[in-house]
Amino acid sequence: MNLLLSGSLLATTPNSTFFWGVANSAFQVEGQPQASDWRSFTQQPGAIADGSHADFITNFWTDFEKDFALAQKLGANAFRLSIAWERIEPTPGNYDLKALDHYEKMLLSARRHGLEPIVTLHHFVLPEWLSQKGGLLEENFPQRFENYAAHVVSHLSKGPARVRWWMTFNEPNVLVRGGYMEGDWPPQKKDFNLAVQALAQLSRAHLRAVNQMRKIRSDLHIGIAQHWRVFQAKNKWNPLDQLAKWISDWCWNRQSTRSMYSGQLNLWLPGAQRVREEITINEKQLGLDYLGLNYYGRSVVSFRLKAPFIHVEEGNLTKSDIGWELYPEGMEQAIQESYKDYALPVLIAENGLADAKDQLRPNFLTSHLASLQNARNQKLPVIGYLHWTLTDNFEWHLGRKPRFGLVEVNDTTGKREPRPSFETYRKWIEAHP
Ligand code: BGC
Repeated sequence: MNLLLSGSLLATTPNSTFFWGVANSAFQVEGQPQASDWRSFTQQPGAIADGSHADFITNFWTDFEKDFALAQKLGANAFRLSIAWERIEPTPGNYDLKALDHYEKMLLSARRHGLEPIVTLHHFVLPEWLSQKGGLLEENFPQRFENYAAHVVSHLSKGPARVRWWMTFNEPNVLVRGGYMEGDWPPQKKDFNLAVQALAQLSRAHLRAVNQMRKIRSDLHIGIAQHWRVFQAKNKWNPLDQLAKWISDWCWNRQSTRSMYSGQLNLWLPGAQRVREEITINEKQLGLDYLGLNYYGRSVVSFRLKAPFIHVEEGNLTKSDIGWELYPEGMEQAIQESYKDYALPVLIAENGLADAKDQLRPNFLTSHLASLQNARNQKLPVIGYLHWTLTDNFEWHLGRKPRFGLVEVNDTTGKREPRPSFETYRKWIEAHP
């Protein structure tokens, strides 16, 4: 069934071509933020490493045409962006039609620039009122997300923007790690039991939303963007390192993906209480039509005798401005691994690095794209590559300092200036239609 599904999906990409594009998210670029957990968090002294905020960034909210024009210049045919829930539902149950119309305008502009919109419904940020009620852990969170998703999806998939490609959640694992394990993201908890509960709520919300979205239109492509890392045992001959690696890989890459894919929730973290539950998926019986992978690198894992017993570190190859290792061959491996698990079409939904001087990015691009090409040569159903990201943005608790853009953005004027790697990516796209 999965293979049949992949066949039909492959046939529906624009002109059956590969998606080449870029990805961003609302809070990280739009500016003029509405009341949300992240807006409040940025106002807390010391919360953001460089003391910056997201009130003015590139002003994508009003200046989106500039970025779509840049993406068009790049030769892109797809653009992944997200909807800010806090704009759409500023108070519980009250939807702001003007905000939806604004997104519709934005998406129509993307289409005019030859870009297929790929829309994420939730990229880390919650409306302030919802976070005050308990956020992900609020009992009705899945129902609230379902209602919000149904509202947005009916408007934007039935209206002139005709959005067909959707993602419910971005990186459930990263969201839960920041908010409930490390506590350096809102709601700043450090409790593995709550973390498992939060993962369960995200799975429930995803599955409910998928059931609704398929009722709205049967021709939508629904996925998630999962942060997928390649895990390696520090000493491959050491069975304890191997066990630590297996646990990390399961907890990080696989458990929430599997729950959202199969409806069989089976979620656990070391020392925390397991959640097991089954949620019925109507129609297609699977909760994902394709899998978005955000690939950023590898994790080297070893066993330690002292709690928490599992130690995870970066490998020792070249590092980006924020210390993330560059590990291009992992892209091919991540695609192979996820395909082996799910047999779903794979979209590289994010891949990029912080490199203010653009010294590493050109080579980063060509090496990762070559790795992607290897996967395509093996006839794995890879349907696209979206670079993170087009313009410099707001990098969550790290603030404005990390520069992920193919295009440099002046912090005060918002002026955009393509970096040399913009040309590297443009040429690659041109050579690989
Ligand atoms: C997130 C993005 C973030 C990027 C780089 C991903 O985990 O989805 O929002 O900007 O990593 O840090």
